[in-house]
Amino acid sequence: MDVIEAIKSRKSIRGYKPDPVPRNIIEEILEIASRAPSSMNTQPWEFTVIAGEALDKLRKANIEKLSAGETPGMDVQRGGYQGVYRERQVALGIQIFQCMDIAREDREKRMAWTMKGFRLFDAPAAIIISSDESLGEGAQFDLGAVTQTIALAALSYGLGTCIMGQGIMFPNVVRKITGIPESKAMSICITIGYPDDDFPANNINSERESLENNTTWCGV
Ligand SMILES: Cc1cc2nc3c(=O)[nH]c(=O)nc-3n(C[C@H](O)[C@H](O)[C@H](O)COP(=O)(O)O)c2cc1C
Repeated sequence: MDVIEAIKSRKSIRGYKPDPVPRNIIEEILEIASRAPSSMNTQPWEFTVIAGEALDKLRKANIEKLSAGETPGMDVQRGGYQGVYRERQVALGIQIFQCMDIAREDREKRMAWTMKGFRLFDAPAAIIISSDESLGEGAQFDLGAVTQTIALAALSYGLGTCIMGQGIMFPNVVRKITGIPESKAMSICITIGYPDDDFPANNINSERESLENNTTWCGV
């Protein structure tokens, strides 16, 4: 697949077919994505691939925590968006709810959608990306590069992905199931599987700001 075509066609996939993703395919994708650049070639990424019973355990534990009213939070926090960032966040929510036919005041359906996220969109597999805590925030840029590279490489195998925080928002639960130690900070999770083309939210084309508003040309 042409690189421009891959970049343009990648989008968040939030509905999957149940078919498992063969381990050798995930292995190939991770090998390829490991060609991503990193500061001083430090390659701070550590991958934990979770599927089958282990992933089902994670889904169940996440839902239990959420249902018990525990507050989700990540090892590497983001969010608390304001101004234009909040506006974009809200616009995405409106887009998703519209295409999933979820009314603003329909608490039950909204909660069901949130739970689907905490069930890692019922994907057959997920990749958790973590790094040694000694690296601190410095590693985040490198982890972002490898994350997008995984998402792009997956397309060549007919796979869809969603880069997502929700799956790892109860870090203790993830640690217990996967054995990821406290000394590793989990940054992000990527759900991966064969896209269900009939799932409405898979057809969202998320908006992008015009270059006019975020690009400065100097001497051009
Ligand atoms: C760091 C990061 C965290 C994200 N977390 C979530 C998440 O928890 N749930 C979700 O549904 N999407 C999540 N996303 C996906 C974004 O919502 C999505 O990338 C964005 O809306 C742009 O849409 P696109 O991926 O379809 O181009 C996350 C993306 C990134 C990069």
